[in-house]
This record gives sequence, C-alpha cells and structure tokens, in this order.
Amino acid sequence: MTHTAATSHRSSTARLALALLAMAAAWPSWGQRIRDLPPSALGISMPALSAQAAAGQKAFDANCASCHGRFGTGSDKGPPLMHDIYNPGHHADEAFLRAARNGVQQHHWRFGDMPPQPQVSDEQLVQIVRYVRELQQANGIRFKPHRM
Ligand code: HEC
Repeated sequence: MTHTAATSHRSSTARLALALLAMAAAWPSWGQRIRDLPPSALGISMPALSAQAAAGQKAFDANCASCHGRFGTGSDKGPPLMHDIYNPGHHADEAFLRAARNGVQQHHWRFGDMPPQPQVSDEQLVQIVRYVRELQQANGIRFKPHRM
C-alpha cells in the first residue's frame, strides 16, 4: 500500500518534470516570437494598413521590433508601443523622430536607455509612425490630451 503510493507519487513527479521540460522546449525565444506569431496570438487586431504604414511595418520589424516587439507589443528589451502612454496626445509623432535620432534616457520603464537609431532614414521614420498610429487606432489607443 505505502509502496504503491510512493511509486505513483514518484511517477507523477516524473510526469510533471517531463511536462515542464516539454513546455520549456516549446516556449519560443523572443527571436522566434518576432518572426512567427500572428497578430492575434499577441492580442493585436491588424487593420488594413495604408501603403505608407505597410512600408513602416517593414522598417519597424527591421529596426524597432527587436526591442519594442512584433506589432509593438514589447519584449524583454523594450516597452510596448501599443500602450496608452504612447497615445498621440502623450507622445506626439515628433517623439518618435526624437527617440530614433537622439535615443531615449530610461524614464517610463526599467529597460534601460534606448540607443539612437541612425540607420533609419527620416522617410522610414515617417512610415514607422504611420504604422504605429494605424495599429494603435485599431487597438483602441486613441488621442487623449496630456495633463501634467
Ligand atoms: C535596443 C532597444 C531599442 C530599439 C532597437 C528601439 N527602442 Fe525605442 N525604446 C527603447 C526603450 C528601452 C525605451 C523606453 C525608455 C523609457 O521610457 O524608459 C524606448 C522608448 C521609445 C519611445 C518613447 C520615447 C519617449 O519620448 O518616451 C519611442 C517613441 C520609441 N522608443 C520608438 C522607437 C522606434 C521608432 C524604434 C525603431 C526605429 C525604436 N524605438 C527602437 C528601446 C529600443
């Protein structure tokens, strides 16, 4: 009786360990998540993008998504831009240009500083802003006047 109980306890512990291992192996790295996951898996509704925003998506994926996550949903290196504090009333379009040109000192979060992104052209930045704004709009992040 005791023997049986101990054995079944051991095997359920083993099963749990195996299940945890399988989960760890299946859990995609951030890099994979950036490439593979569809917007819905990240809780994002993808609108029909304008041509400018579609170009912005490519530039965003190449230059910003490694920190700000696919569809701007954030990563372990940077904050989500699909967040109410980045609504156009709090962070106007110029904030994006400034961020890419000068970098950003850590102030809202605890990811550290954002380094400048000199490889991104002004034209690409305008496209990126368009992409972020269209995505924000489709996900309920709208202009709110900033109150200090
Ligand atoms: C190496 C990581 C990294 C990359 C690459 C990166 N960012 Fe950031 N970004 C950050 C971090 C971290 C913050 C948050 C700083 C804080 O507020 O604490 C930030 C903040 C911002 C902000 C808010 C600025 C403000 O005024 O508060 C904007 C806008 C932004 N990033 C846009 C971009 C765009 C556009 C790109 C691509 C061209 C980009 N970032 C690439 C890490 C990154």
